[in-house]
Amino acid sequence: MQKDTVIILDFGSQYNQLIARRVRECNVYCALMPYNTALSKIKAMNPRAIILSGGPSSVHKKGSPKCSKEVFELGVPVLGICYGMQLMGYLLGGKVGKSSRREYGHTELIIDKRERFFSGCSRKEKVWMSHGDQVIILPEGFNKLAHTKNSKIASIYNPEKKIYGVQFHPEVVHTPKGMKIFKNFLYEVSGIRPTWTMKSFIKEAIKDIRFQVKKEGVVLGLSGGVDSSVTAVLLHKAIGKRLHCIFVDNGLLRKDEKHNVIKTFKGHFHMDLRVADAEDIFLKRLKGVIDPEKKRKIIGREFIRVFEEDAKRIGKIKFLAQGTLYPDVIESSAVKGAPSSTIKTHHNVGGLPKKMGFSLIEPLKDLFKDEVRRLGKELGLSDEMVYRQPFPGPGLAVRIIGDITKERLDILREADSIVQEEMLGYEFFKTIWQSFAVLLPVKSVGVMGDKRTYENVLALRVVTSSDAMTADWAKIPYDILGKISNRIINEVKGVNRVVYDISSKPPSTIEWE
Ligand code: XMP
Repeated sequence: MQKDTVIILDFGSQYNQLIARRVRECNVYCALMPYNTALSKIKAMNPRAIILSGGPSSVHKKGSPKCSKEVFELGVPVLGICYGMQLMGYLLGGKVGKSSRREYGHTELIIDKRERFFSGCSRKEKVWMSHGDQVIILPEGFNKLAHTKNSKIASIYNPEKKIYGVQFHPEVVHTPKGMKIFKNFLYEVSGIRPTWTMKSFIKEAIKDIRFQVKKEGVVLGLSGGVDSSVTAVLLHKAIGKRLHCIFVDNGLLRKDEKHNVIKTFKGHFHMDLRVADAEDIFLKRLKGVIDPEKKRKIIGREFIRVFEEDAKRIGKIKFLAQGTLYPDVIESSAVKGAPSSTIKTHHNVGGLPKKMGFSLIEPLKDLFKDEVRRLGKELGLSDEMVYRQPFPGPGLAVRIIGDITKERLDILREADSIVQEEMLGYEFFKTIWQSFAVLLPVKSVGVMGDKRTYENVLALRVVTSSDAMTADWAKIPYDILGKISNRIINEVKGVNRVVYDISSKPPSTIEWE
């Protein structure tokens, strides 16, 4: 059975991934696609509705992104948001002009006709606006649904063709009735049922994996991070012992990490988990290396070598599984200057190259991070596992500034475990993106008992962020900072000073190297 799909055409708004997430929160599957996707491709997907996203351009600007007019002739409901509504007005014969006053931020929407679309809304609702242009003359067949103080037309619809437009952004949290409006559009206007759930996803994913893999084997690099862990459990459910996981212990891991991974995946899930004990070789290669980029390169190269060697030992394996997520695969609409076109190209140390001779299997490639977490819960992974913070591929190596030795790694591991323990007790822990310690190549004088000490300095880094592209240092309470500092200085031999990093990204980065 084909699932009900909504297509979101991406005109470059910074909010377009949010539109996709809102639709999915309504338990409806959707795909975000470039604005210029061929009509034949759109038709082939047999969408139940189409959403045109916002975007930074003006329909009058030469070369501004436009979709085919035929998108409105497919016989499926269409919702245009901000630029999407202006484009709709422009293509269907209305008139778009400059707003006399640019509307930005909280605005009061006055609903003139509630219709199904605004059902459940009051006559006046708070909405979020961000536009310079607006529809000033309605296209034929359209009526006005709402206005604001500065825009005579803030929402439109064509009842016959079920085409709707909103000048505001229902996808952002600053539009409190936004979810209700999406539900109205999806359920009431488009007649879609909310059937896309994690349970249905698991069922379909298992079927797809079995179909793709047939009787072959799959190998997976399990790091203990959220994405590879969820991938492992899902694949294991589909193909059992034909999934072979390889966990590389590079000696740069957090305290008890190897033990916990073995306990969860071998002990609890009974998976075929192979641990490559490669600490010695990694530390040998890293000896004396202080340049951060060199460290990354060495670790990346060594990881691939160890992984390949272990994979060969399993025997003939056709597939390599990876925990790739949806934001990594969304094709950029390439709208010039649009925030959504600058997709992150992060140094993915700890990843595997495409050219390893395996066919790829990526069962999470349609999911956002929050969906992966929900999937992990549904598959029986613990809260601790699915809500863990990101950990860089090169591990503690990029958190030891300067020379990496076993002794320095042990100091950092101890300190890091205290940071994790204490941060778990912070009531707003879930708002924290990452919290960790960094070992500096600096010694300072201290006094312990009656004795002078001359020991290491540790920096504490705690940041909030939504996607790691930008980050802010977290204003966590002084008593937690105090407790972390006290415990580290008292319990970790070799540290006599802790400092707090109060830099934001940019211009700093989250990690120190
Ligand atoms: P920066 O330090 O660039 O880090 O602000 C942004 C995010 O990426 C993580 N990070 C990495 N993740 N391999 C990874 O898989 C890496 O080589 C790597 N380097 C940094 C970092 O922890 C932060 O969440």
